[in-house]
Amino acid sequence: MHPAPVLRLVLAALLAVSGALALAQPQKAPAAYEPAVGQEGKDVVWVPTSQALVDRMLDMAKVTPRDIVMDLGSGDGRTVITAAKRGATAMGIEYNPDMVALSKKNAEKEGVSARATFMKADLFETDLSKATVITMFLLPEINLKLRPKILALKPGTRVVSNTFTMGEWKADQTAELREEAGCSSWCTALLWIVPARVAGRYTIADGELVLKQDFQMLSGTLRAAGGPVTVEGRVRGEEVTFKANGKQYRGRMNNGKLELR
Ligand SMILES: C[S@@+](CC[C@H](N)C(=O)[O-])C[C@H]1O[C@@H](n2cnc3c(N)ncnc32)[C@H](O)[C@@H]1O
Repeated sequence: MHPAPVLRLVLAALLAVSGALALAQPQKAPAAYEPAVGQEGKDVVWVPTSQALVDRMLDMAKVTPRDIVMDLGSGDGRTVITAAKRGATAMGIEYNPDMVALSKKNAEKEGVSARATFMKADLFETDLSKATVITMFLLPEINLKLRPKILALKPGTRVVSNTFTMGEWKADQTAELREEAGCSSWCTALLWIVPARVAGRYTIADGELVLKQDFQMLSGTLRAAGGPVTVEGRVRGEEVTFKANGKQYRGRMNNGKLELR
């Protein structure tokens, strides 16, 4: 036989054998997605909150199984998963689809996918109205942009932020974790409670009350029998407290009405 057809036959045989061998090899699984700290995000890069601070943030918000928790920019899903482990219904909003897939996988591994769900979405376009607790680790300017939407939520909604503030709306509570507590960077948790709208004029047993409101802080005057006195107070969700003429007043807002106890 001419050498060329022989060579072709040998080559064909070799190819057949190597093909069969390749098929017999176990198929390599595609490499698992691994996020890198500092990787780009739509408006904020990804940096995870330490588990110790996640725990503290959820403690400060007093998360219970009755809560609906939303993490805005949920990264690898750790806050949502931790809230779900506490029995809450928790949802992560994350723009990066790879992070959404990763957090779904993490929730499955932790056995909480029924209560921990994730949505590929822009946090600015998301309806927050069902949340009773909002968690976030964003940036001061993003918190400020979100602030009007947060202030319009149901009074009593708790908002917890890792490190970043909300401008002139001062936090109701702040906690800082130390290295020994398991947090080495980004270790401040801040809590706000959405205040009811209280500003207005009310007739109370002691006189005519005029309340001005600056976020959760109240000021104003009480026109009592002995003349007008200044008022100072606070609102925490629907709970209202103020002091006038040395007397402490407590009450709550109910459908725009101030009910004093
Ligand atoms: C600093 S990380 C915080 C991650 C997580 N909340 C935590 O505390 O571990 C911010 C996250 O927000 C996401 N992100 C940035 N801009 C976003 C946007 N407009 N909508 C939704 N997610 C966004 C980023 O991809 C990133 O995962």
